[in-house]
Amino acid sequence: MKIVVIGGAGYIGSHVARELLDRGHQVTVFDNLSTGTRENLFSDEEFIHGDILTTDSLRQAFSQGFEALIHLAASKAAGESMIKPEKYSVNNITGTLNILNAASEAGIGNIVFSSSAAVYGEPQYLPIDEDHPTVPENYYGFTKLQIEGFLRWYEKLKGIRSASLRYFNAAGYDAAGRITGLEHNSANLLPVIMEVAMGWRNNLQIFGDDYDTEDGTGVRDYIHVSDLARAHAAALEYITEKKQSLTVNLGSESGLSVLQILETTRKISGKKVPVEVVGRRPGDPGKLVASSAKAKELLGWKATESDVDSLVSTSWNAYGKAIRL
Ligand code: UD1
Repeated sequence: MKIVVIGGAGYIGSHVARELLDRGHQVTVFDNLSTGTRENLFSDEEFIHGDILTTDSLRQAFSQGFEALIHLAASKAAGESMIKPEKYSVNNITGTLNILNAASEAGIGNIVFSSSAAVYGEPQYLPIDEDHPTVPENYYGFTKLQIEGFLRWYEKLKGIRSASLRYFNAAGYDAAGRITGLEHNSANLLPVIMEVAMGWRNNLQIFGDDYDTEDGTGVRDYIHVSDLARAHAAALEYITEKKQSLTVNLGSESGLSVLQILETTRKISGKKVPVEVVGRRPGDPGKLVASSAKAKELLGWKATESDVDSLVSTSWNAYGKAIRL
């Protein structure tokens, strides 16, 4: 299939592009390189340096005739979205509407969209399935939920089918070491721990050790980025073959605490990884775990690389390579 991957030079996008290439698809990456990097581009794909906020560059790119589009271009820092909602309105909502309009004009009828578990907000029960109420706690999650709504309308009105993939916490790197571009200024746990282990940061701040969890630290459902990548390919097959849209959670269905990830990092890296326990981060729930039963049933997909050792060791390999460059 001829596929355009918007945001394909980014952390998740590059893993998705690699998976699609490996499956024999013809891939074009469209990226403005604001957070993505050229290092994440592959020789067997085409690259267009373009911006989703520039409708002309989208139109021009889409005139090549794609059968499907994967949309991963977004701002994703939940905390920042509460301080700078304008940035999230423009990059996430306006950007997506530009994509939808250009796709409908160009006749691209299949879209896979990166949604988020942030659409659910504070959990009312665990594990979180797709029927859980959607009451986002931050503006970032609100933008993702709104976009899911636009996608439903564009299906009704324009016949564009879509898969909304509600990611839990993406982590890890390609086990074969083919992706080397690191995320910069990420506030997420795995990149922060890696930077401390590398000696690039002084310590890991643990945001609260008094949660109602086994060891008191926050528990999340970390999903390996290569598991996520396989789910994109499966979702694309589903919407094109079954000619139906879908909304599914993508999680590992197991929870890992901050301390479990810390201890595994210490074990695998052999580094001390100094920590400081600080107060809870506003808006952080104690525990989030997904039910991925629907993805299993509809896509035949489940996480296979999301155990704590794989998450940490593949990350550590990617960071180790970066220093050698
Ligand atoms: C957030 C968003 C999620 C988004 C994801 C990726 C929410 C509820 N979740 O996930 O939608 O897709 O970011 O951007 O908005 N932690 C520390 N110290 C740190 C960093 C994190 O202790 O320096 C802890 C957090 O308190 C949490 C866990 O580690 O318990 C994971 O945090 P993080 O990686 O930031 O992801 P989320 O906040 O779960």
